[in-house]
Amino acid sequence: TARDTVGGNGVIAWDALREEAAGCTRCPLYKPATQTVFGEGPVDAPLMFVGEQPGDQEDIAGRPFVGPAGQVFDRALAAAGVDRSRVYVTNAVKHFKYEQRGKRRIHAKPGAGEIEACRWWVDQERMLVRPKMTVALGATAARSLFGRVVTIGRERGRELRLPDGGAAWITVHPSYLLRLPDQAMADEEFGRFVEDLRQAHALLA
Ligand code: URA
Repeated sequence: TARDTVGGNGVIAWDALREEAAGCTRCPLYKPATQTVFGEGPVDAPLMFVGEQPGDQEDIAGRPFVGPAGQVFDRALAAAGVDRSRVYVTNAVKHFKYEQRGKRRIHAKPGAGEIEACRWWVDQERMLVRPKMTVALGATAARSLFGRVVTIGRERGRELRLPDGGAAWITVHPSYLLRLPDQAMADEEFGRFVEDLRQAHALLA
């Protein structure tokens, strides 16, 4: 079918893109990192999630959202009735940025220059996958996708338009849910996060 043909070519182009990204030197983050963590998921996925950057475990595994934040994300997707194997998951920045403290590698926030340098890859992924809906997980993803500083609290909870016209939704980053001071707050915020995912997913119908 035409869809298979498109999918087939899309997969070839995606493989080539991923391969190219493996050797990316657009910003200095490639030097201390183990590897590029490229996006993953079906090339024709209607729903795309963009996170911040790989963490310690993602850097080692070479896959996005497999560490603690990934586990929260998986739990929220399941609660929202979204099958992770049917969505495309990627990050705004594709190398792990960290500070070494003894044996530990502590997450460091990517800067505007790194987000800007890596936006090229996110744009390529979006052009290939052409999702009907793109969900920004947190401020770094939103900054990458919208090309400006975005306040999550103000833009959350409604359908937005990306500069290229695509539909978008902004929500918190799952790691935010891991940092909340008490259980009641964590439960409430988790519920809000699930509701965001549910609504973004529902807009595909
Ligand atoms: N946090 C992210 O933003 N992305 C990952 O892949 C893992 C943790």
